[in-house]
Amino acid sequence: MVSWILKKILGSKNQREIKRLQPVVRAINAFDEQLKALSDDDLRAKTAAWNAELTKIEDPDALARRLEEILPEAFAVVKNAARRLTERNQAFTVCDQPMTWNMVHFDVQLIGGIVLHRGRIAEMATGEGKTLVATLPLYLNALAGRGAHLVTVNDYLARRDAEWMGQLYTFLGLTTGVIQHDQPPDLRREQYACDITYGTNSEFGFDYLRDNGMATTREQQVQRGYHFAIVDEVDSILIDEARTPLIISGPATVSTHQYDRLKPLVDQLVKKQNMLCNRLASEAKEAFDKNDLDEGGRLMFKVKLGQPRNKQLLRMMEDPDKRKAIDKAELSFYQDTRKEELFALKEELFFTMDEKSHEADLSEQGRAFLNPDDPDSFVLPDLINEFTEIDLNRTLSDEEKDRMKAERQEHCDKQAEQIHNISQLLRAYCLFEKDVAYVVEENKVVIVDEYTGRKMPGRRWSDGLHQAVEAKEGVQIDRETQTLATITIQNYFRLYHKLAGMTGTAETEANEFHDIYKLDVAVIPTNRPVARADANDRIYKTRREKYNAVISEIKERHAAAQPVLVGTVSVEASELLSRMLKREKIPHNVLNAKYHMQEAEIVSRAGQAGTVTISTNMAGRGTDIKLGPGVPDKGGLYVIGTERHESRRIDRQLRGRCARQGDPGATRFYVSFEDDLMRNFGAADRMTKIMERFGLEEGQELEHRWLNRSVETAQKRVEQRNYLARKRTLDFDDVMNNQREVVYTYRNEVIDSEDPHKLVYEVIDEAVPAKVREYLGTGAPTEEPNHPGLLHWVNTTFPLGLTKERAQFETRTPDENGQFLIEKIKEAYQRKSSHEEPTAVKSLERYIILNAIDRLWQEHLYAMDALREGVYLRGYAQKDPLIEYKTEAYEMFVDLMANIKNEVLNNLFRSTSNLQAFEKFLSTLPQFLMREQAPPGAGPTPGRRPERIGPAVSDNGDSNGEAEVKLELSPIRREMPKVGRNEPCPCGSGKKYKNCCGRLA
Ligand SMILES: Nc1ncnc2c1ncn2[C@@H]1O[C@H](COP(=O)(O)OP(=O)(O)OP(=O)(O)O)[C@@H](O)[C@H]1O
Ligand SMILES: [Mg+2]
Repeated sequence: MVSWILKKILGSKNQREIKRLQPVVRAINAFDEQLKALSDDDLRAKTAAWNAELTKIEDPDALARRLEEILPEAFAVVKNAARRLTERNQAFTVCDQPMTWNMVHFDVQLIGGIVLHRGRIAEMATGEGKTLVATLPLYLNALAGRGAHLVTVNDYLARRDAEWMGQLYTFLGLTTGVIQHDQPPDLRREQYACDITYGTNSEFGFDYLRDNGMATTREQQVQRGYHFAIVDEVDSILIDEARTPLIISGPATVSTHQYDRLKPLVDQLVKKQNMLCNRLASEAKEAFDKNDLDEGGRLMFKVKLGQPRNKQLLRMMEDPDKRKAIDKAELSFYQDTRKEELFALKEELFFTMDEKSHEADLSEQGRAFLNPDDPDSFVLPDLINEFTEIDLNRTLSDEEKDRMKAERQEHCDKQAEQIHNISQLLRAYCLFEKDVAYVVEENKVVIVDEYTGRKMPGRRWSDGLHQAVEAKEGVQIDRETQTLATITIQNYFRLYHKLAGMTGTAETEANEFHDIYKLDVAVIPTNRPVARADANDRIYKTRREKYNAVISEIKERHAAAQPVLVGTVSVEASELLSRMLKREKIPHNVLNAKYHMQEAEIVSRAGQAGTVTISTNMAGRGTDIKLGPGVPDKGGLYVIGTERHESRRIDRQLRGRCARQGDPGATRFYVSFEDDLMRNFGAADRMTKIMERFGLEEGQELEHRWLNRSVETAQKRVEQRNYLARKRTLDFDDVMNNQREVVYTYRNEVIDSEDPHKLVYEVIDEAVPAKVREYLGTGAPTEEPNHPGLLHWVNTTFPLGLTKERAQFETRTPDENGQFLIEKIKEAYQRKSSHEEPTAVKSLERYIILNAIDRLWQEHLYAMDALREGVYLRGYAQKDPLIEYKTEAYEMFVDLMANIKNEVLNNLFRSTSNLQAFEKFLSTLPQFLMREQAPPGAGPTPGRRPERIGPAVSDNGDSNGEAEVKLELSPIRREMPKVGRNEPCPCGSGKKYKNCCGRLA
């Protein structure tokens, strides 16, 4: 009753609105009359004139007002063109089929067009000609010169509609494009450059992701903004697909393979080390027993270096005397004068492990153990020296030299990767204890929060550490592939300045469209009265009985040569019915929405006498079913639903397949108590009672309009539940969406920047003081400044060659130190850049930032995914997962932005625009370092192997002024995203990648 009243009110409101559009329709038709007098060229001239005028209007509001003003005449121009095409029987081909133009817009279609132009959803029944309706607002909005998009559900429909409606646009002097799945970027760009572009939602969405998340130059981007889009079958796209995001994934950046391979080796290495440390601890115990505190302390310090969590060590640390002895040994070894001794001490172990900085460092012994044949494979090669040697070799041609250098570079990359993996494994083994730092549950490593002891399902350690722990525990190592970019369809469509939609069924979901997309639904009356007869549902006890009844009804109709369309909710049900029909020897077609073009072809013939077609609900959607000769007299197309869908909308969609444009037609649904909907949503109970009262026998059915209503009540309940689920998904997605917008905006700023130099300096200005604060605090007296740590960081990140004496950190406040370093770094950077081509430097600068953004953003996406999964489990702890998710996602995002800046700093001096320039820079490096250095000769002389074996395996921050020369020269290409061999080289040389930096990659 209530719903009936509501419907009355809503209906009448809708009717009032439609009525209000009547004057506009009259105006359009009046213009149309006048336009008849014009020549084709004069008609076409309207397009050019409007186009010239509208492209100049910048202000969106002014543009909207002007479009609204010219709407009646512009719509009339389109309608008039359609009439001209009809009058001359314009022939053309669509998807290789010959066709003739035979449509002039009906008045209801004009109304639909106005509704679409105003950014709303037009509900127009199947067969009302929505394809043609869209031409009106597409033409009008395309006049502004900013593109207008029409979004379809599959590639076939995109092409069909573009080729079909293209007749009209071409006649009027506008260009039409169509995006298809297999098009290369250049072709896509051309399609987007057209006035009107047809394509599927996923192609549009993926192009967005590629443009904003992956392209590194303007030229690589294909889209040109999001001005106006009409989404066809809008319910299917914004509601049914609301839970499936578009994802571009790629191979994982961390090769899990290496972990698998290296794990057994590291496993043994750790065992050996533990044995060694246990022996040392026993020796120490004996020494302590003999009261030899120095010896005991020395031995235990060694244990501490090798196995910080050694049980005996932990016990001894509880004894004040022993603890003092150990601390004393540690202090004395860190004195400058004992460096050599400390080094020797470390070399007696297989590796050393610093608990505070979480860093591991392999010794010579350790390296020899891991790779007895080639202990050097764990040391980064001395590229400077190797390049010099290659250059001095007169027997080599320039090409050979380049090739060899690239080879060495690649070798260096591989080594760096391996070193990194090993160091992560060592950390996993030595510093991360099972059931303390993490637990293993359901074949997954779950982090335990060190402060609260709370499990953090879904959180992952970064930089490959999590995989290392997974390898250690022998559980599935995640991240075989990783998400490179992702967006939900809805969020893609929210990008449009103006969005509209059309479908045969939107009314039942009007609330959702309004709440989530701010799209209002207008129900457009049909061109002719609907002559469809919807029969009451037939209800059975079991599925078997239901299907039997369906088959006998098909048999009956088929015998009378009436065409039958059978709708199913699943492929499985389609196949079952097909088998049953085969047994009855009834010829039929089965459609599963897989081969759009062929299926469209089959569906288009579903109205011919005697055909039987079985179809899932998406199959053949958008294809017109015309009745064959004699069929109207047989009652038109008969539609059977074999199950009520969870959503009333889908049922309406199926019913709508018949009785188009005033044709006759009938529909009926078959339902059983075993159907999911009936079992799960309570309708069955009530009905069983009714059935029992009626004393239902095997094979008998129930049929009454009250029963229909019970079914619909169940459907409404499910609809509500699904709506909440979708809304929730969106709430979660919004968090990510905001982050994506920030990152993509920054990314595009980098791509567009004429002066990326400024962006680099911005990063320095922000990130350096942050780092300084990390080491020195804010200068408050309670804080302990870590000057050596800062110096170490500076010297391993920038080629400044700072010594303790020159740095004089103690004499300044943290802020002053920040400024001091900023100046030094900029100066050094200037010097580096001066060795390179100015244009190449620009590309490189863009590249460094983009690289950092992309790598870390992708890692972030992965972590966000995990967080999202994990956060649900926390719901049990009486916490709202959404709030938890938002809070943590925010923290992660803040970290991400900081990490991006740090990564840019890290790569500033480790990347170069090309190998030659890199080499040039390297060759100046030693002198440069020398100059900056206090004690001459302490710098790396060519030929000396760097002591350190890579960033992640670096020794701890105990540097004391002599760490200045430890600039690590990491590989160039390692940091770069994969570049296609035929793509332009990222170094900006203008050559193809394969002919430039990627010659050997
Ligand atoms: N104004 C018109 N005059 C004559 N025929 C028309 C007119 N408009 C549309 N048609 C015809 O109506 C049929 C259905 O059109 P169309 O496929 O665009 O409908 P639709 O509303 O998109 O239906 P669906 O919901 O199935 O997608 C087509 O054969 C088309 O040629
Ligand atoms: Mg359609």
